[in-house]
Amino acid sequence: VAVDPFDLVVFGGTGDLAHRKLFPALFRRDHDGQMTEPTRIIGVSRKEMDKKAFKAEVKEALETFVSAEELDKAAVTRFLARLDYVTLDATGEAGWSDLKDRLADGLDRVRAFYLATSPDLFDAIVHNLRDHSLITPKTRVVLEKPLGKDLESAREINAAVGDVLDESQIYRIDHYLGKETVQNLLALRFANVLFEPVWDSAHVDHVQITVAEKIGVGARGGYYDTSGALRDMVQNHILQLLCLVAMEPPGELDADSLRDEKLKVLRALKPIGDATVRTLTVRGQYRGGAVDAKSVPGYIEELGDGAASNTETFVALKAEVQTWRWAGVPFYLRTGKRLPTQVSEIVIQFREVPLSIFGAAGGFLAPNRLVIRLQPDEGVKLYLMIKDPGPGGLRFREVPLNLSFADTFKVRNPDAYERLLMDVIRGSQALFMRRDEVEAAWMWADPILEAWSRLGQPPASYTAGTWGPSAAVALIERDGRTWHEDPS
Ligand code: BG6
Repeated sequence: VAVDPFDLVVFGGTGDLAHRKLFPALFRRDHDGQMTEPTRIIGVSRKEMDKKAFKAEVKEALETFVSAEELDKAAVTRFLARLDYVTLDATGEAGWSDLKDRLADGLDRVRAFYLATSPDLFDAIVHNLRDHSLITPKTRVVLEKPLGKDLESAREINAAVGDVLDESQIYRIDHYLGKETVQNLLALRFANVLFEPVWDSAHVDHVQITVAEKIGVGARGGYYDTSGALRDMVQNHILQLLCLVAMEPPGELDADSLRDEKLKVLRALKPIGDATVRTLTVRGQYRGGAVDAKSVPGYIEELGDGAASNTETFVALKAEVQTWRWAGVPFYLRTGKRLPTQVSEIVIQFREVPLSIFGAAGGFLAPNRLVIRLQPDEGVKLYLMIKDPGPGGLRFREVPLNLSFADTFKVRNPDAYERLLMDVIRGSQALFMRRDEVEAAWMWADPILEAWSRLGQPPASYTAGTWGPSAAVALIERDGRTWHEDPS
């Protein structure tokens, strides 16, 4: 559905995220007919550049990050015609009145400012927006991650932004919430009657969430080395997934009802601190190895400055949600870079049948398992026990009911940013994080980070192309369980 004309200003408009994600996503939305005239997209950064050079840069980004068959010439021309560029100093005076002039004729349109910059600049940018009277009643501000590096810095950012804008104008991005299958989690749980009655500690043995990447840190070492896997992936993306799995059904699907329920989950996370951090968490860092049979350098070599680093590129941990529904059900979480495959999935492992009536001849009855795969090959598999076909006795085999989104829908899966950018324009905050959610997530993550730093223990080394340090396997096997591996 087409939306009314809007103005979108992208701070960090010449940066990596803008090139890789934002402009391709905006192009696709325009290509699908969602933008109407005279929608404008204005790139902003401190780089001296004119509009023509900016357009050339964006065109090149589209040619790099959008597939050739999607790049129809007329659509590219139309999209480029929407672009404008302003050179601006986020912390100083230069460029702001220029930006104001460009926006002067759009006072009654939705006006969105996307801050794809370092969070150090958020405070200065929002205050400059206010001081230059750029904030209209229909203004929205989008904040990219990371939203701080601990509770204190997150609070500072929230306070600075909250000083200028109302919470209803603030959109904190967690792009995992824009992924198709993540939203399908809501559909699966709350648009079907099948799962909810068994979605609790009486029927679920444990939950696993894995977000594995093949890539290393590449050119992002400068940022990543100050962050590490817990801050980069767990505090935000993985906890958001955990919330959607564990939350109670919201009364309605408006933004605040949904976020209230997620907040309750975050607040119910059992704290991990000095006493438990060694048994409940595993940190790892990759050394050189091979991914897809190609040799790849280790983390330290990738950083390239020769210095040692204690930053973790892998983390596995056992979390617990202290509510009646989930009491005693472990949530095993793991994420890492330079793992053997790229896969994000959520596994709901159900309990065994209370009693096997088939005796030894029936063989092992594998408990049911629901696997929700976010990427790649989005889909849902429900593993069931089925009788082995044939005239023999009653022997059983585990077979998945397999719903592959690609086979079922035969449509391109939109990128998360496509959905989220248009939600900003439409004014829908449901898939964005509220201030208290971000802070609650840090409240749980901080004591882990502090305990690690107090223990001063370096992360265990793992060979690139393997599933992290052996302690990550031990973490779950100690409890008599194993990490899910797709048998097919
Ligand atoms: C980002 C992290 O938020 O998410 C990156 O900063 C990570 O380190 C990325 O690679 C993963 O996102 P996706 O959508 O590729 O799974």
